[in-house]
Order: sequence, then structure tokens, then C-alpha cells
Amino acid sequence: MAQFYPLRDYQPNPGFKKGDIFVLFGELFNRGYANGLIDQAKAAGMTIVGITVGRRDAQGTLRPLNKDELTAAEEKLGGQIINIPLWAGYDQDPALDGTTPVDQLSKVKTSNWQTPSLDWKKIEESKQAGIARFRSASRESLKQIENLIPQGANIFFAHTMAGGIPKAKIILVLTNRVVKGQGEKFMPSGQFWASEIGKLVEDNFYSVTANTFRELLAESASIRDKVAGWGGKVVYTAYGYHGTEIQIQNQLQWQSYNPYLQGSAKIRLEEIAEEYWQQGVRATVYNCPEIRTNSSDLFSGVELSLYPLVAALRKEGTCPWLERLEKDLEKKLNPSSSLEGLLQAVEAYHSDPVVQAYYRDFAAWPKHNDAKLADLMLNASNRMMAMNQNRKDVVTDLLSEVVVQSSGVLIFCESWEPHAPVVWLGHDLIAKERIAANR
Ligand SMILES: NC(=O)c1ccc[n+]([C@@H]2O[C@H](COP(=O)([O-])OP(=O)(O)OC[C@H]3O[C@@H](n4cnc5c(N)ncnc54)[C@H](O)[C@@H]3O)[C@@H](O)[C@H]2O)c1
Repeated sequence: MAQFYPLRDYQPNPGFKKGDIFVLFGELFNRGYANGLIDQAKAAGMTIVGITVGRRDAQGTLRPLNKDELTAAEEKLGGQIINIPLWAGYDQDPALDGTTPVDQLSKVKTSNWQTPSLDWKKIEESKQAGIARFRSASRESLKQIENLIPQGANIFFAHTMAGGIPKAKIILVLTNRVVKGQGEKFMPSGQFWASEIGKLVEDNFYSVTANTFRELLAESASIRDKVAGWGGKVVYTAYGYHGTEIQIQNQLQWQSYNPYLQGSAKIRLEEIAEEYWQQGVRATVYNCPEIRTNSSDLFSGVELSLYPLVAALRKEGTCPWLERLEKDLEKKLNPSSSLEGLLQAVEAYHSDPVVQAYYRDFAAWPKHNDAKLADLMLNASNRMMAMNQNRKDVVTDLLSEVVVQSSGVLIFCESWEPHAPVVWLGHDLIAKERIAANR
């Protein structure tokens, strides 16, 4: 497992310039992490190129974007999209008899989920079909991207792909019990993970969250050769998650959301970066803080790690920007709540001995949850959310934006001359960068 390597500083003004190419390997969603990085690439004058994961027709067949979808996606990205579907994972890929893992899962009921009798031979066939499909689509996409590279350019590949929860009702029911369940409805993540269905989910996570990075690195070897020919740089970044350092009781402490079911896939992502780094490729996984996005909203309680960003910002010293931010945060709260009250309640949660036991065990990450932790976390999450006036416009939305912007700057700057294949961005550096940028 990667050594804990938190970045403590950054060098502004990286050398990326007009005419260099920024490739987003994943789709762009409104609140997603990639927005911060793309803002930096655009500000540097880089040409933006994107990909699509494609869409599915009524029969479930993967297709490219249609004309309207492509126009909308290119407008949002601010660049050209290579319109070849790059959906990863194999849950919807047909086995030799035409059935998919999702078809098998659709027959599983809550009454028999522990003995689902999945046909693993067929699942393996789907897996191989999914690998071949993704590989050939990546190869073709990267060939088209190679043709767009002008003489003398540097290339920045930003991998964002993560996911892999099979699209089946039974999986939704089970993961909801694991990450949102309490009392009778709670299921410990370890029980789910040890099951046959859990093993299928885990393997699909590997396919989407980790193996896509390997495919990108392997299939873009000729781009590296070409760019090396004129002494240019090709850098690769991927968004990792492996806990974050935040302020608890006035101290910087590593902590994590639990249970992070994708954790083993994120560790594999780190291993892929380390493997390529040893071959001289600038591939770096940036383990980023918890924020609220389309992907993380499922995990209620993940936002509890975000509130203490206010304490980290205050530690850097106050300035009009921070005073304004605090006022804007306060405005989102009910008249009966206050920012100070909210922060104290969050601190009490993070200091609870049950929660602290998880935080003091970095080596054992990713850890499974239990009923006690789930109760504490979900009750705390609900209490803090209820302090907002409007649950659709909450304090953590604003704090997420701060982290997205800052992480964009930090990753962009670090990637010019990266220090290591796996690094962590904690609240300390996010705060340092944001206060310096806004002072
Ligand atoms: N949100 C967080 O708290 C957090 C924290 C640390 C790291 N990250 C990582 O940041 C990255 C971006 O996530 P985000 O939270 O900004 O959310 P997001 O929803 O904006 O991005 C998710 C990305 O995954 C891609 N994706 C999803 N399923 C896919 C599939 N089957 N095949 C191919 N691509 C697929 C999407 O196209 C998109 O680019 C992810 O790697 C995520 O794990 C997120």
C-alpha cells in the first residue's frame, strides 16, 4: 500500500501553455472534481479534449452520443469530445448466450440474496467482453486524440472514472442498507462484501475505478513516444480517495468516511500509478478530500469530513474573502442554528471514541462499518443537514466548491513536476492555497 505522502506546498505557475492538450478521461458533471482542473487548463490556454462514456438505447446497447447530446456535452466541456462510448465495467456486457450479469442479478430477491447461485462462467465471459470492448474503444479514442496533437505540445491526461455499482434493483436495496440503513434496516458492510454479490460488485469496481487508468496508460504509449520526440511532457493524473487530513480539536488528523466500498479499487489505482512511475511515466494519484458530487451523494455522512474546512481556513488567518464565505455559510442555516454551533457539533462527532477508533487505523483502511458507527454517523449527518434552511442548498455545497477550485490549482501545479505517484491533498493545503488566492 502507498506510503502516506501529504503535499504540504505547491509551486505556482506550472509551464503548461497555449497549444498544449488537456484530455479529460471521464465525463464532466456539474459539481464534479474535474471542473476545478479544467478551469486551470482553460486559464493556461490549453486545448480541451474530452471523451464520453456513451449512452444506452432501450435494449441496453451502448451507443455514442446523438447530435444534441454531443453539442450539449461539448458546450459544457468547452472542447471537442471524441464520440466513442467508453463505459467501463461489465455488468451490462453480454455473455456468449446474450445474458448479462445484470440479467442474473434481476432474478435475485431480498429473500435469497445470500444464496443467489450466480453463474460465474457467464460472468467471466461478460468480463472478458467488457475488457475487450473498453480496450478497443480506448485504443480508437486515443488514436483520434493523437491526431489532434500539434508539434511541440505537452499533454495532460486527467482520469476521473470511478464507479461500478451494477445497475440492478437488488444492489440498490443492499447498498442502501449498508450506507444508509439503521436499526432493523442496517447491514454491516463486511457482510455485504463477503457475499457472492459483494464479490461481483468489488470486481466491477476494479474494472471502472482502477483498470481504466491502466488501459489509459497502456494505450497512450505511442503518444508518450511522439511527445518525447520533441522533448514535451505527458502527465497523467487520477483522482484517488484514501481518507483526508482535517482539523479535529485544533490538530490536523487523518480520517476517512467509512465504509468506503470502493477502497480496494482505489488502492489498486494507486498501485497502477506506482508501477508506471517506476517505468519513468509521470502518473500520479491525487487522494482528494470528501466533497458532495453526483457520485458521492449516495454516501450520507461523507460530508461530515468537509465542515472542518472552515477551521483549516481560519488557521491560515482571516481575510475579507473568508469573512464573506463565513457569512454566506451562515445564511444557509436556519435562524435557530449558527455556524459556530454547527462546527462544534461536527467536532463532537469526529472526537467520539467510536469514530476515533476508525481514524487511528490508517493501515487497516478501508474499514467496514458496524451498527454503532452507522448510527453515530447517520444521526450526525441528519442533524447537521437539518440545520440548513433548504436541503437542496446547503453549507457543504459551498464548501465543496471551495475544495473543487483549490484542488484544481493544486493538481495542475503539482503535475508539472510531480513528487510522487501517490499524494494526499488535505484541508491544510486546500486552506493555504485558497487564502493565498483570495487574500
Ligand atoms: N466526491 C468525493 O468526495 C471524492 C473524493 C475523493 C476522490 N473522488 C474521485 O474524484 C473522481 C471524480 O468524482 P466526482 O466525485 O467528482 O464525481 P463525478 O460524478 O463528477 O465523476 C464521476 C466520474 O466517473 C465517470 N464514470 C462513472 N461511471 C463510469 C463507468 N461505468 N465507466 C466510465 N466512467 C464512469 C463519470 O463519467 C465521471 O467522469 C472519482 O475518481 C472519485 O472517486 C471523489
